[in-house]
Amino acid sequence: MRTHYCGAVTAADIGNTVTLCGWAHRRRDHGGVIFIDLRDREGQVQVVVDPDTPEAFGFAEEVRSEFVLKIVGKVRPRPAGTENPGQTTGMVEVLAQAIEILNPSLTPPFQLDDEAVNENIRLQYRYLDLRREPMQKNMRLRYRVSKLMRDYLDVNGFIEVETPMLTRSTPEGARDYLVPSRVHDGMFYALPQSPQLFKQLLMVAGYDRYFQITKCFRDEDLRADRQPEFTQVDLETSFMGEEEIMALVEGMIRDMMHKAQGIELPNPFPRMTYHEAMNRYGSDKPDMRVLLEIVDVGDAMKDVAFKVFAGPANDPKGRVAALRIPGGAVLSRGEIDGYTEFVKIYGAKGLAYIKVNDVSQLNEAGLQSPIVKNLSEASLAAVIERTGAQNGDLIFFGADKAKVVNDALGALRLKIGHEKGHVDGRAWAPLWVVDFPMFEYNEDENRWDALHHPFTAPKDGHEDWLATDPGKCLSKAYDMVLNGWEVGGGSVRIHKESVQEKVFAALNIGEEERREKFGFLLDALQYGAPPHGGLAFGLDRLVTLMTGAESIRDVIAFPKTQRASCLMTSAPNVVDEKQLRELHIRLRNVNPADKAG
Ligand code: AMO
Ligand code: AMP
Repeated sequence: MRTHYCGAVTAADIGNTVTLCGWAHRRRDHGGVIFIDLRDREGQVQVVVDPDTPEAFGFAEEVRSEFVLKIVGKVRPRPAGTENPGQTTGMVEVLAQAIEILNPSLTPPFQLDDEAVNENIRLQYRYLDLRREPMQKNMRLRYRVSKLMRDYLDVNGFIEVETPMLTRSTPEGARDYLVPSRVHDGMFYALPQSPQLFKQLLMVAGYDRYFQITKCFRDEDLRADRQPEFTQVDLETSFMGEEEIMALVEGMIRDMMHKAQGIELPNPFPRMTYHEAMNRYGSDKPDMRVLLEIVDVGDAMKDVAFKVFAGPANDPKGRVAALRIPGGAVLSRGEIDGYTEFVKIYGAKGLAYIKVNDVSQLNEAGLQSPIVKNLSEASLAAVIERTGAQNGDLIFFGADKAKVVNDALGALRLKIGHEKGHVDGRAWAPLWVVDFPMFEYNEDENRWDALHHPFTAPKDGHEDWLATDPGKCLSKAYDMVLNGWEVGGGSVRIHKESVQEKVFAALNIGEEERREKFGFLLDALQYGAPPHGGLAFGLDRLVTLMTGAESIRDVIAFPKTQRASCLMTSAPNVVDEKQLRELHIRLRNVNPADKAG
């Protein structure tokens, strides 16, 4: 139907007749002459309609926002002084000879170039939202990123193999989405939380290098960086150790980001142990651009009068830690109250602080704080020494169970670091976090949980602790962190049935349950399973970081809300009685409020 994309008409076309198809982005009536900005995927071009072409002019008068048009016209230079060199089509305009309205449009519920549209309206009319230039850019970058990764994997001998969507649940730590079986009364499939077990079985099957760009489904609490269905770039290799796997996938990210956006990442990426990340940054995915660091002061607080500190300092599961804010003494009472409220989100009961006015006086004269009178001079000396605090600084404290302190001070570090500019100015800070513990103690259920997943291999020499001291076992897991986001995670797997059994035992998964849930894996491991390992990247997260979008939803064509619904199709929805009967399901006590939104 057309000869050119609207956004691709340039000075080289001057004098030529072109046929364009697109949407009326804007129509301006300049008393006698009508201007239409015609838009398509590639951009916009200015169309001029003169009353000298009465038929075209008549149609142009009817045109409104988002009408679909076909326009035949002649390309000419824009009159001197009206050029826009910043735009590809900015030096030219198209003088219309004929206009055809291919389809009118209702008045759109929002202006396409309005940047402050309510997200719910955008999600309800997603097809209009996706017409907007920023969204088109995001979708293209997303395609480019996955294409570049696919190319890299292809060159490196990986083949893509699809794995089932209707399957049995793989434990990745989230709740499953279940699909009832019509054929098997009372039975359910689970949508995969990841292809984990299938990719391991492909290694047993000798495929050597597998990848797949695929959807994963997890019913968990949603946040800005989480969707119930999201996309993984998932891969697995045989006969490679951690070092080789990390080098290979790090190369993929470096190559992809360079080709997609000219970004230069360091080679190799820096590494940090899980232990160090938690201690210094309170997080296993530290944002290394933020300069602030957390330090332990618990050992200096064991005997102080201040119970809030002495308690956790003497509790093996407690932590007392300090976060120094250079120049922070200028923070107002109101700001400190705001931060105190902020850390409560993470379970902190308060946020003690000291304003350092004069480090040479370790008492209320030099240190302005409600808690100084209850701390000893020795404990204050330790705080000043460890934080490196100087006059004009402020020191925040967390004292609680270690998890609460890490979560609270870790989040505060990010908030103040970014808000107050305590950053190193780098655009990109990649990092490998390694040496994760195998297990994490679940206080609520009094048992050990796998920190990564139960198929992760223990570090060499740690296997014996599986039975005796699971908390001491480290694993061969690694996470790739970029600017404080976990963009990928993986591990070397267990390839021996005997070790897998020990891990299940440590997780308190009984023999019957092991057979029932993982019998097929345990069997396969006994038929010549090769040493293997891999990793999965969160494609949505990578693209979100690369576009600078605020939410993962901005890089997914048809995302779900925080309440896991699709506002465009209104999924999930109520289904027919008949469908339910076929699935052997009877609903009980459905709360109508749960059906909406
Ligand atoms: P993991 O659970 O760490 O590992 O997931 C891999 C990566 O997927 C991304 N991700 C998500 N992205 C958006 N929304 C979500 N709800 C979500 N959950 C995870 C993250 C994460 O790093 N089978 C293992 C991989 C392996 O061991 O090879 C796995 O799924 O970026
Ligand atoms: P209080 O003893 O409750 O008056 O608290 C004195 C100071 O300690 C206040 O600034 C509180 O915000 C702070 N605080 C209380 N509990 C904690 C805690 N668990 N960790 C850090 N600071 C705390």
